Amino acid sequence: MLNNKLLLQMKNTLIAPSVLAADFANLQRDIEMINASEADWFHIDIMDGVFVPNISFGMPVLEAISKHAKKTIDVHLMIVDPDRYIKTFADLGANVLTVHYEACTHLHRTLQAIKASGMKAGVALNPHTSVTLLEDVINDIDLVCIMSVNPGFGGQSFIENTYEKVRQLKALITKKGAATQIEIDGGVTNKNAKQLAEAGADVLVAGSYVFGAQDPIATVADLKKLTAF
Ligand code: DX5
Ligand code: ZN
Repeated sequence: MLNNKLLLQMKNTLIAPSVLAADFANLQRDIEMINASEADWFHIDIMDGVFVPNISFGMPVLEAISKHAKKTIDVHLMIVDPDRYIKTFADLGANVLTVHYEACTHLHRTLQAIKASGMKAGVALNPHTSVTLLEDVINDIDLVCIMSVNPGFGGQSFIENTYEKVRQLKALITKKGAATQIEIDGGVTNKNAKQLAEAGADVLVAGSYVFGAQDPIATVADLKKLTAF
């Protein structure tokens, strides 16, 4: 009985490798590798060259990924006017669809549209955007993605102020009785993963740290172990 209770209380931080750092010439191989690992989600970065100064990949590539991916597909839209594509991403197999706070004039309406399409609704915050801006909408958000780098590129270094934002967001979620998950995106490694989980993070995105590793499967296992307590 005691053991069961302890198990139930254990924190299981989710790990979401970012496919942006995969080898696109061997995409199927890399997707199968994540399928075989302890990773929980696939994180998919869609960039339009307008909201962020980079273009990643679009619908045909996501369609190809969806065909092989056996885990939750977490799509991070770094695009202007995301409302135009909500249905498209639902049809392509997205399970979580995250839009940027800074890209949405009518965020509440966008969140309802994402949920009406059968997906979980996420909101990403740029490093300069305060978590307090979500106070009036937090109960409608399934996931908040705190950007721990400026969006647009993989392989950047982690912004230290993120820990404080995670704590503030966790307090807001608790105060409002919301069920929102906290995701961290950018510069996640074994150096900050544990501290992020302790601060209240539920999902850690890791791109270059996983795919750039000698042994990505062992690296994911390591992140899982570090963040379970
Ligand atoms: C950045 C993307 C991230 C990126 C993370 O704009 O949203 O998801 O792929 O890559 P790393 O883990 O290399 O910082
Ligand atoms: Zn991302």
